[in-house]
Amino acid sequence: MNTVFLNGDFIHADQARVSVFDRGFLLGDGVYEVIPVYAGRPFRLIQHLQRLQRSLDGVRMQNPYSDDKWSDIIAQLVTENRQGDQAVYLQVTRGVAPRDHVFPEGVEPTAFVMSNPIKPLPESYKRDGIKAITVEDIRWSQCDIKAITLLPNSLLRQKAQDVGAQEALLIRDGFMTEGSASNSYAVLDGVLYTAPKDEKVLPGITRDLVLELADKAGINYREQAVSDADLHRAEEIWISSSTREVLPVTTLDDKPVATGKPGPIWQQIDALYQRYKQEGKV
Ligand code: PDD
Repeated sequence: MNTVFLNGDFIHADQARVSVFDRGFLLGDGVYEVIPVYAGRPFRLIQHLQRLQRSLDGVRMQNPYSDDKWSDIIAQLVTENRQGDQAVYLQVTRGVAPRDHVFPEGVEPTAFVMSNPIKPLPESYKRDGIKAITVEDIRWSQCDIKAITLLPNSLLRQKAQDVGAQEALLIRDGFMTEGSASNSYAVLDGVLYTAPKDEKVLPGITRDLVLELADKAGINYREQAVSDADLHRAEEIWISSSTREVLPVTTLDDKPVATGKPGPIWQQIDALYQRYKQEGKV
């Protein structure tokens, strides 16, 4: 039932093997994408494949496949693993070579794709909102590349988990960049703020859609990072990602965000987002 794609073949997950000399394993030398698939349709696939190309360019790696080929691989995998809404995870590493920091020559990249059911989120996340903490952003200075080297993100997310929070909001030089696995937003004086798309944040596909929907709905927004101090007086705080959509943060560092309930602007955006999804737009 669980088929994966590895280097040209569709095989059972149990049969998939990668060499211990793969540079993804030894050096974290690879990039990835996570693409939600609703009712069999990959959501914003073109944008995800464009971001994949951008990440590959950023680490000087060749794209092993054309966009059409990636689309075919994803379509076949999703059909074989038919299990409702799915999250497709794809990863490209620089390939298998004796361990050396310097790039190997003439090596084929390793391409891996899997799909798993999207875990339904607890109902309370939208009804009551989630908890978040603020932490120092300890990541590198090219966070716009979707690299598989997620140790800092994982350490920060675990810090949140350890205190019963669902996300860590990252502060760099006194300003919020994003979440450990999400983009982040704050509403101040009725204006929606999110950090600009520079090397400090991942250019989220969900973030782009949120801003498109805000634009259409006439919600004022600015692509400008908010300070830690402003974040702690925000009327609303949200996070967004392909697997968690848009979620309201109602407790920050153990204190309620404004009334401690999901705010009206989040409600408006979430309704528009759900409608967009149901209309089967991609
Ligand atoms: N992560 N910022 C970071 C650091 C992320 O890891 C993610 C998503 C996002 C949101 O991007 P998008 O809207 O394109 O999913 C922002 C994925 C879901 C993950 O690593 O599993």
